[in-house]
Amino acid sequence: MTAVRLMKPYITFEEVEADFRGVFDSGMFTRGQHVEAFRTELAAFTGARHVHMATSATTALWVCLKLLNIGPGDEVVVSDFSFPATANVVEDVGAKPVFADVSLETYNVLPETLEKLITPRTKAVIFVDALGNPTGLHEIAELCRSKGIPLIEDAACAIGSSENGQHCGSIADLTCFSFHPRKLISTGEGGAITTNREDWSQWLDVKLSHGSRGMKGVALDFVDYGYNFRLPELQAVMGCKQLAKIEEILVERNHVRGAYKAVLEPMGFAAQQARPDVRFNVQSLVFSVPSGCSRDGLIAGLKVRGVESTIGTYSLSSTTYYASKYAVNNPNSRWLEANTITLPCYGGVDVQMVCQAIQDSIIS
Ligand SMILES: Cc1ncc(COP(=O)(O)O)c(C=O)c1O
Repeated sequence: MTAVRLMKPYITFEEVEADFRGVFDSGMFTRGQHVEAFRTELAAFTGARHVHMATSATTALWVCLKLLNIGPGDEVVVSDFSFPATANVVEDVGAKPVFADVSLETYNVLPETLEKLITPRTKAVIFVDALGNPTGLHEIAELCRSKGIPLIEDAACAIGSSENGQHCGSIADLTCFSFHPRKLISTGEGGAITTNREDWSQWLDVKLSHGSRGMKGVALDFVDYGYNFRLPELQAVMGCKQLAKIEEILVERNHVRGAYKAVLEPMGFAAQQARPDVRFNVQSLVFSVPSGCSRDGLIAGLKVRGVESTIGTYSLSSTTYYASKYAVNNPNSRWLEANTITLPCYGGVDVQMVCQAIQDSIIS
């Protein structure tokens, strides 16, 4: 039996019950007051001028590529240490994902790495805030600006994080968030796109709603063709409730991170690093294991002891599909995929118990 889960939801049924009842009573399951409230509150929180809700970070990223008119013959540089969705959207629109290796300390792409991968075919960069850590985002944004290349921030994990006092969502040209259950705000599935550009916001408004803008007589006016990636009302209720608690969540997770570091670093574990000017949301608490320690053995040992854990994340260029198609070797992201572990991190998690289980797993 799993005694310690990897993640605990930051939402209870009691918190949403009254608003859910209101939605059922009104019959307004989509395009109602809760989606509007979530959108407005996300804009106020992130500092982004425009926010558009989506069904997931994957659909959000995909729509951003469509917005930038990216397709066959184009290249998009992507962080190599991420979840496959980051590259899948590029592949899906027919462009080529160019995998950028990452820092072994922050797990993020460095400007000098990115610069070497830019070619005349580069139509966008997707920078991932690895596991919620935006370290280096401003430098990447500056580099992209100087080259005239749009920067999409894959902030699927980064709600609440900031760099140099600026929240993720207000720094890149386009930012995509996820509200999947592993994230700090969960709507079951869900996502959002933020941008400061008025023209892109108008495009998104139309395209995300079947291509409609305003009315033509008594019916909708379809001024373009479009999609439907709208977040439903019940999901938005969940989002608003958790966004209201985000500060509490950030403090709690950083506190737990500190408690783990105090025990694990003397044992040879190394925590993912965030620069001092970064406020890290610790969406995933990831350590690299000491040399000589089997990461897979540790995950198995923890499981036997009732503690859920998992790998840090994936080396995208090493997945079966991308390795066979592009044959890229990025040593850092490969090393991180093989040697990092994500540990349970939330208020109330028994850090001493987990650390004891780690110690026992390593010895046995
Ligand atoms: C970095 C990154 N990008 C994209 C995604 C996809 O997010 P979603 O599940 O909302 O589509 C994830 C999901 O874990 C992720 O970690």
